[in-house]
Amino acid sequence: MNKPHEGPLLDAARSAAGVGVPHPHESAHLHVAGEATYVDDMPELAGTLHAALGLSPLAHGTLVGIDLEAVRALPGVVDAFGARDIPGRNDCGPVVHDDPILADGTVQYLGQPVFAVLAHTRDAARRAAARAKQVLAIEPLPPVLSAREAHALRRYVLPPMHLVRGDAQAAIAASPRRLAGSLSVGGQEQFYLEGQIAYAIALEDGGMLVHCSTQHPSEMQAVVAHALGIDAHAVRVECRRMGGGFGGKESQSALFACIAAIAARRTGRPVKLRPDRDDDFLVTGRRHGFEYDYEVGYDDDGRVLGARIDLIANAGFSADLSGPVMTRALCHFDNAYWLPHVAAHGYSAKTNTQSNTAFRGFGGPQGALAIEAILDEIARALGKDALDVRRVNFYGRSAGGDAHAERRVTPYGQAIDDNIVHALVDRLVHTSDYAQRRREIAAFNAASPVLKRGLALTPVKFGISFNVAHFNQAGALVHVYLDGSILVNHGGTEMGQGLNTKVAQVVAHELGVPLARVRSTATDTSKVANTSATAASTGADLNGKAAQDAARKLRERLAALAVQRWRVDAAQVRFADGFVSAGEQRIAFAELVREAYAARVQLWADGFYATPGLHWNRDTLQGKPFFYFAYGAAVSEVVVDTLTGESRLLRADLLHDVGRSLNPAIDIGQVEGAFIQGMGWLTTEELKWHPQTGALLTHAPSTYKIPTANDCPAVFNVALYEADNPADSIHRSKAVGEPPLLLPFSVFFAIRDAVSAVGGQRVSRSAAPEANSGARKREGLVMHPPLRAPATPEAVLDAIAALRA
Ligand code: MTE
Ligand code: HPA
Ligand code: MOS
Repeated sequence: MNKPHEGPLLDAARSAAGVGVPHPHESAHLHVAGEATYVDDMPELAGTLHAALGLSPLAHGTLVGIDLEAVRALPGVVDAFGARDIPGRNDCGPVVHDDPILADGTVQYLGQPVFAVLAHTRDAARRAAARAKQVLAIEPLPPVLSAREAHALRRYVLPPMHLVRGDAQAAIAASPRRLAGSLSVGGQEQFYLEGQIAYAIALEDGGMLVHCSTQHPSEMQAVVAHALGIDAHAVRVECRRMGGGFGGKESQSALFACIAAIAARRTGRPVKLRPDRDDDFLVTGRRHGFEYDYEVGYDDDGRVLGARIDLIANAGFSADLSGPVMTRALCHFDNAYWLPHVAAHGYSAKTNTQSNTAFRGFGGPQGALAIEAILDEIARALGKDALDVRRVNFYGRSAGGDAHAERRVTPYGQAIDDNIVHALVDRLVHTSDYAQRRREIAAFNAASPVLKRGLALTPVKFGISFNVAHFNQAGALVHVYLDGSILVNHGGTEMGQGLNTKVAQVVAHELGVPLARVRSTATDTSKVANTSATAASTGADLNGKAAQDAARKLRERLAALAVQRWRVDAAQVRFADGFVSAGEQRIAFAELVREAYAARVQLWADGFYATPGLHWNRDTLQGKPFFYFAYGAAVSEVVVDTLTGESRLLRADLLHDVGRSLNPAIDIGQVEGAFIQGMGWLTTEELKWHPQTGALLTHAPSTYKIPTANDCPAVFNVALYEADNPADSIHRSKAVGEPPLLLPFSVFFAIRDAVSAVGGQRVSRSAAPEANSGARKREGLVMHPPLRAPATPEAVLDAIAALRA
């Protein structure tokens, strides 16, 4: 079986101090001891007040009045305010300015914050805020609660988007075979362990300091400045770490930062806002659920000749990040496949629910899931193993091989010159013993009337870069102190993904010092300005390069001193193992630093990086949005109880491309975590809103089921596909945060595979060739289980019932 640390991971050329080494997470010892400081762990300043949010009890209505006096009279309450009391702009939307901090004029979803309460204790603030129903006067309006309903009414938060190549309709009409269908996939709650939180401290002369759990300190700085009507230079936002973000703190930490800051300005006292889990669910948005209607034409081998699809996202009440999310969904409908004629239409439906936002994968999973479902159906219609159909549709090999160069161009016009999916899948088919297990499962199912097993292999191709080109920039600031220790600050944020560890490794590598000599500090808008969100998996790519740039400046200055000292060539000077050397000469790094100080050499440096070569036309959806692609594939085997609908993942084999890993321990952790998180999305995590009132019914772990340790498969083989990134990324590594979230597609399609075995409808050619002719005869009937995601027991039973009908 694959051993995770096989391969040239410990390549001697890659310094033991720095990159390529499985160093533990920089805060691991603090995480396990409970000593890592999150915002709520910071010692509270004297006089700190606690804020709570008064939420709309209706999904849609006209806000007629708020009796704030009644709120202020409640026990322990110090102050209360509404939208009209905001000194600056009542807006915290990241792109389109349709996101009020507090509702004004209308309420647009059940749970929308309408007012804020400040009290001496958190409990008193929450009790007062819970009186919302009594103090709010709202005239009800009819809510629109589902994406399909909004789509029918053409109610969108943004204009529809179209990604088109060739003539899909004509290609489908001319195809020897066709199928059409619909699919539904639910949203997903980020369920960060540390909820949203902000702690604001009013400073002298109109200044404001906000400690905030956020992936985007610069955006928080900007929205706080707007809300207060002050300059950005008066606002400082700091984030040492988050207890998870997963996209949920890319834009939606804004409301909390703004409320805390407005409250701190009003009272002159420090104010902390930390909603409880239920309110966090009710107030903030999550992954967009999608609905799809599609039509494809294909040939006898299962090759797609033309595809037309409508992607209807539930955007919620406002645009938030739905534009870039839909763009990424459209740009991932191709996944790893060449689609000669394609017409993909994206609709961001406006509903009276929480405003949906970033979540690991950022629309990519929702785009790619659709083509995987289509290929699965084609395979079942043809009586083929879905893997065979996937393979004939792969993009052309990049290194020669394919005669047709056009098989390497995406529908959005980017040429793929780094395709490794063929080799990666070949390897995984072999190491996972796919063919043998396919036969064993067919035999098992033939003998097992109730329990059915299923197997699936799905590939991933994921584009790396923000699909808003100018976000692809980063800065860093590196200080060297006189004892030779180094402090790194960069624009990225730490949310558990190990970014600070990787950036510190890069700096340690450049300066040739042990990793322990490098410390990462809290992200701080007063150190590195105008940063992008830590998102799109680009944290290490961007900030690693920026920190490398800064460290190289320092190394050059120190090397110049060594050149003077020893009268050697700059090219001879080496930085390794805590020493600077040239031939026989060497000096401790710290000693050279002291000499540099004495010689009045600047011992801190800034660094900057901008990803080269990106361009994007947001009207035509054409260009080169991605610096490179990350690939992967997974094989999952499940067992389904066809009487109860329960399913279990028995074994998963993952092979994921991280380029030349900066830190294989962290990367494997990211791959495993993303896999299990994505499996939760597709199997157990179900969001339900009350169909009349629009109340989110699944707003706590009692009703919303994320995976637990028990859901990890007993056999879990995770391996990195190590090869240099052909793009000039940081040490030839690849981004890893999001792409592996698509690996558990294999779990969903394995469940579909098991469901299809019900009633002897197993139609895999390689598994049961004798069934093939029968399968062909049944064409035109429902050959595929119309399974929706998440594949909860209920969904599985519905699919089984449909097959038996
Ligand atoms: N890993 C942990 N432990 N916690 C997180 O919140 N967020 C994911 C991913 N991995 C996340 C995580 C998301 S949504 C992204 S975009 C990336 O990490 C962001 O970090 P990176 O760009 O440094 O990989
Ligand atoms: N990912 C995350 N956030 C973003 C992106 C993206 O691709 N584009 C703009 N914001
Ligand atoms: Mo990640 S969804 O880009 O924060």
